Amino acid sequence: MKGIARLLEVDRLRIAFRTEQEEAVAVDDVSFAMGHGETIALVGESGCGKSVTSLSIMGLLGATGAVTNGEIRFDGSVVTEYGEAELRKLRGKEIAMIFQEPMTSLNPVMKIGEQIGECLRLHRKCSRKEAKRAAALLLKKVGIARPEAVAKDYPHALSGGMRQRVMIAMAMAGNPKLLIADEPTTALDVTIQAQILRLMKRMQEDRGMAILLVTHDLGVVAEMADQVVVMYAGQVVEEADVFTLFRDPRHPYTQGLIQAVPSIDGDGRRRAKPIPGAVPSPREMPEGCRFHPRCPYAVDRCRLENPNLQRIGEHHLVRCWAAHSSSLVPEELSDLGPVITV
Ligand SMILES: Nc1ncnc2c1ncn2[C@@H]1O[C@H](COP(=O)(O)OP(=O)(O)OP(=O)(O)O)[C@@H](O)[C@H]1O
Ligand SMILES: [Mg+2]
Repeated sequence: MKGIARLLEVDRLRIAFRTEQEEAVAVDDVSFAMGHGETIALVGESGCGKSVTSLSIMGLLGATGAVTNGEIRFDGSVVTEYGEAELRKLRGKEIAMIFQEPMTSLNPVMKIGEQIGECLRLHRKCSRKEAKRAAALLLKKVGIARPEAVAKDYPHALSGGMRQRVMIAMAMAGNPKLLIADEPTTALDVTIQAQILRLMKRMQEDRGMAILLVTHDLGVVAEMADQVVVMYAGQVVEEADVFTLFRDPRHPYTQGLIQAVPSIDGDGRRRAKPIPGAVPSPREMPEGCRFHPRCPYAVDRCRLENPNLQRIGEHHLVRCWAAHSSSLVPEELSDLGPVITV
C-alpha cells in the first residue's frame, strides 16, 4: 500500500526565525510529498534545514520561528493553520517523533514503564493497570529483554540503544501514521545503529506507518529510504527515488555527498573526498545558485541566477543549470558502496 494517497504534502514551505534586528530565512521554497507507508529521507550537511523542516510539520518551531509562506498538509488537513490544541492532538497520535538524543525527550525522574503508560493513557482510555501491561508488551515488541524489569528502571540506567528502543516504544503508543525520526541512530555505534534501523523497519511493516527520516548518513539512506530529498542551504537541490539518486546523481552537491562517504579502494585503503567549504548561514546566502561557491562546475550564470527545481525524470528533480548535462557525472561515482548493512 505504498504511496497511493498522499499522506504528507509540504508545499513551497518557507520558514523564518526572528531576532530583534532581523529575520533569518532558514528554509526557502521546500516542497515534497509522501504516501502512506513510504519512507522518505531528508539529507544534507549540518545547517541545511532538515530539522527545522521536520519540526515545522508538528508546529514545533518555538517562539521565534514561523512558517512565513507555503503550507503543510497532513492526511487532507492544512496543519500549518492548526492552533495549539489541534497540534497537540496531532502530536503523538497522528505523528510521532524520535530524536538523536533520547535523554532530551525522556523524563529523568520517571520510571520507563510509567512514561510509556502515560503515553498510552493519553491516546486511549485505559486503567493504570492495563496501561502497565500494555507498556510491558510494547517494550517487548521493541526487543527489550526482561520488559517488566526495565519498566521499573529510570532512563539513566539504560544504554543509548535501549533508550532509543524506549523512545520507539513511546512513539508507537499512539499508533501514528507518520514517524519523524531526526538522526535517530547518529549517537549509536554501528551495530546498535543497524539494530535500531531494523526495528524501525519492522514497526513500519507491522503498522503501515510512513517514516520521514532525517539523516546526514547516506548509508542509512541506502538501507531505509524509498525516496530521497537532498537539501542544501534551506532548499531542495535534488529529489529522486533511492536507486536513481545513487545511480544517477545530477546535482554537484549530491555527487559531493556521495563521494564524501568513506569507501575502500582497490589497495584496501579507506578514502573519502569531503566537499570543500561550508554551508552558508541564512544571514549570508550567496547570490545566484546557493551552492556555486563550492561547486567545481560553476559558470557565470550560476553566480547570478538561482536555478529552479526542474523535472528531469518521472521521479527526479534537480536544481542546477546543468541538470540535463551528463558531463557533470564524474567517473569515480561508479564505485560507491553503502557503509552499513541492516
Ligand atoms: N531556533 C532557531 N533560531 C534561529 N535560527 C535557527 C533556529 N533553529 C535553526 N536555525 C537555523 O536554521 C538553519 C537550519 O537549521 P537545522 O537545525 O534545520 O539544520 P539541520 O539540517 O537539521 O542540521 P544538523 O544536521 O546539524 O542537525 C541553520 O542555519 C540554523 O542556524
Ligand atoms: Mg538537525
